[in-house]
Amino acid sequence: MHDFNVPASASKEERYELLYRQAQALVDGESDAIANMANIAAMIHTTIEPLWTGFYRVVGDELVLGPFQGPLACSRIKYGRGVCGTAWERGETIVVEDVEKFPGHIACSSLSRSEIVVPVWCDNQIVAVLDIDSRKLAAFDEVDRVWLERIVALL
Ligand code: SME
Repeated sequence: MHDFNVPASASKEERYELLYRQAQALVDGESDAIANMANIAAMIHTTIEPLWTGFYRVVGDELVLGPFQGPLACSRIKYGRGVCGTAWERGETIVVEDVEKFPGHIACSSLSRSEIVVPVWCDNQIVAVLDIDSRKLAAFDEVDRVWLERIVALL
């Protein structure tokens, strides 16, 4: 088993660096994408401690809920809908500082204030998105974007 403890004094970059190395070690030893999504969601959730961390997988013309940590979430999101469907449509990460200001945001929980959605690419196609919701406004920035893109690229 891997040791997922992060020192309380660690900076955001240090936490992500550790997370990245742990994710790399996990993915290196396992080829199943769902198992890896499940463990990556758990690792991110226990390190960053947001409201919700999880994956939606591309299935046909929809995103379907995949492995996640946190409260109950909506099961399906259409292409171009919500932050997740928009990130899929645009083919890029979306950082939302205030979910109330994102037109069409899908509120799975009224406690969510900000959000980041990172596409997962495989063979030049988006196969899933990683979605993280926070109870705090503007919880995510460029540091999160850069490191989360690196982490999902391991999948
Ligand atoms: N807020 C997302 C929906 C998924 S939940 O947050 C888990 C969206 O607008 O796409």
